[in-house]
Amino acid sequence: MTDPSIRFNDGAAYARMMGAWSHLAGDVFLDWLAPAPGLAWVDVGCGNGAFTELIVQRTAPREVQGVDPSDGQLAYARTRPGTKMATYHQGDAMALPFGDAAFDAAVMALVIFFVPEPARGVAEMARVTAPGGTVAAYAWDMEGGGFPLQPVMRELRAMGFAPTPPPNPDASRIDNLQKLWRDAGLVQIETRRVDVTRRFVDFADFWTASTSGSTVKPAIAAMTPAVRDELMARVRGHVTEHADGHVSYDAFANAVKGRVPG
Ligand SMILES: C[S@@+](CC[C@H](N)C(=O)[O-])C[C@H]1O[C@@H](n2cnc3c(N)ncnc32)[C@H](O)[C@@H]1O
Repeated sequence: MTDPSIRFNDGAAYARMMGAWSHLAGDVFLDWLAPAPGLAWVDVGCGNGAFTELIVQRTAPREVQGVDPSDGQLAYARTRPGTKMATYHQGDAMALPFGDAAFDAAVMALVIFFVPEPARGVAEMARVTAPGGTVAAYAWDMEGGGFPLQPVMRELRAMGFAPTPPPNPDASRIDNLQKLWRDAGLVQIETRRVDVTRRFVDFADFWTASTSGSTVKPAIAAMTPAVRDELMARVRGHVTEHADGHVSYDAFANAVKGRVPG
């Protein structure tokens, strides 16, 4: 039987599925953070380096460290020409492999709902960030319907193929993010919603992008052609198809930022 749990063991597959989404939302998030140049950053749950690349390209950092538990994701991140100055470590958000106050900015991009105990992850980001530094995150609004793979996940579930949601899908609700940041002792907390629209050449392009990740690909590969066709037809009902054939889909995330007091 196919293991239906969400997992990230293939950096290239993640790049095809989520890379463009990650860059679209990550750009808005970084605009909002408006960081000074020359900062030392830690990117927690850096995965295949999609957001790490934005940090390097856009913020003129002094130092960038990425942490992720997945070997497959880190292997891809290390091949990115755009993040040569970053150092990647295998590790967990709940036990970051750094000393206290080592960074000016700690960020988590699209990760918080995967962390088994999100409060421990936020406390760790606060610990490794220097007084006055920034602790920030953004993540798809899973419970609010903002996840880019929502149409595929929803129809898979409706058809009896139940991809397991992340362990804490509600961690990315705005009120929960606020509480996590407050409880970690962070100050000057602000939140916002991040809306993004991705354009696809046509429905086939949307389908390929949305089903190439290691979470849903095995389940779909195991389907009969008839079942797969039914799934495609159902998913197609959720996207916007334009007169020239291109397809667009709107996703949204929630973001939070705060500062370490002092
Ligand atoms: C959706 S990906 C986000 C990757 C990247 N930050 C981005 O913006 O594209 C989620 C990542 O969280 C990582 N992850 C899962 N559990 C984690 C944990 N406990 N601590 C740190 N990272 C974790 C996964 O391995 C995966 O790479």
